[in-house]
Amino acid sequence: MEIKFTKSENLKKKPEPGQKLGFGNIFTDYMLVMPYDEGKGWHDPEIKPYAPIELSPASMCLHYGQTVFEGMKAYRTADNKIQLFRPEENFKRLNQSNERLVIPQLPEELAMECLMELLKVEKDWVPSNDGESLYIRPFIFAVDPFLGVRPGNSYLFIIILSPSGAYYESGLNPVNIYVENKYVRAVRGGMGYAKTGGNYAASLIGQDEAHKQNFSQVLWLDGVEQKYIEEVGAMNIFFVIDGEVVTPMLQGSILPGITRKSAIEVCKSWGLKVSERRISIQEISDAYDAGKLQEVFGTGTAAVISPVGILKWGDKLMEINGNKIGDISQKLYDTMTGIQWGKVEDTFNWTVEVK
Ligand code: PLP
Ligand code: COI
Repeated sequence: MEIKFTKSENLKKKPEPGQKLGFGNIFTDYMLVMPYDEGKGWHDPEIKPYAPIELSPASMCLHYGQTVFEGMKAYRTADNKIQLFRPEENFKRLNQSNERLVIPQLPEELAMECLMELLKVEKDWVPSNDGESLYIRPFIFAVDPFLGVRPGNSYLFIIILSPSGAYYESGLNPVNIYVENKYVRAVRGGMGYAKTGGNYAASLIGQDEAHKQNFSQVLWLDGVEQKYIEEVGAMNIFFVIDGEVVTPMLQGSILPGITRKSAIEVCKSWGLKVSERRISIQEISDAYDAGKLQEVFGTGTAAVISPVGILKWGDKLMEINGNKIGDISQKLYDTMTGIQWGKVEDTFNWTVEVK
């Protein structure tokens, strides 16, 4: 499909090399916008200047939350190439989210073509500082001006880009996490596995309380018994117990993370025992008491590999590996970021160059 290009008359000043970017604060010059209308399908993709969009106050997404999104990154390698990490997985997951939210499927090749064209235009925005990348946010939402509850007939697919650094201010230093006992984020049969705004809205109150107690994120428990570990606000969670790497299995209530999937493959390639299974918070507490809880870390596009230094469950404070990053977490971080930034040979064939 032909992608229209509308030139910006007003290019922004790019961040200075060395300027601390933070996460998700800065937006580039252009965005991609493609409408969907019933009868026409996805049509007229356009790359145009990044700017506010006009919406009817009755737009269905604003009232009933029919929206999905993705998160991925473009990396600049030492030899000045731009590459993506498993982007096809993101568009596959976008369509799984679409299915759950009754949003029309977006052909994955078309989504990829749109992204590649936008990245070609915005290449110079991919940062070159260590640990920084261009965060990519594709999203879709229903725009019909209608107040009844039904799936929309009209949508917008938009991709915006944000040069970003570490998601957590602490960088690779361990984060402290608090086990949420009161609220739940998702239940099986719900939409926990979909990347949709409502899941994040449900998580805000827990995160807010955690922040008030000086914790950076919440570890969610299952929505039925509040016994089994699910995931963290913006990442999947892994434990190393007595040499075994364990992570909650996918049962529909947590996001099937692409970093999670990759970390599992990397750990297996090292010959480590990896289990995807139910893990109760009691088991973690017992392993801690028995001195067998060796490492805890989160995985995510924004969070990369984030070691957990302190885990609080009720009145119990567990200090993991002396509040220092563990060997497996460090090695995983080095391997994953090495592949992403082109410093380690990509034996898995995960990277895709933007040409
Ligand atoms: N879980 C949640 C709730 C997330 O928001 C994310 C981030 O995207 C993840 C897990 C990790 O997923 P991925 O590794 O695909 O970024
Ligand atoms: C990501 O890691 O891409 C995310 O979407 C996490 C978050 C910023 C919601």
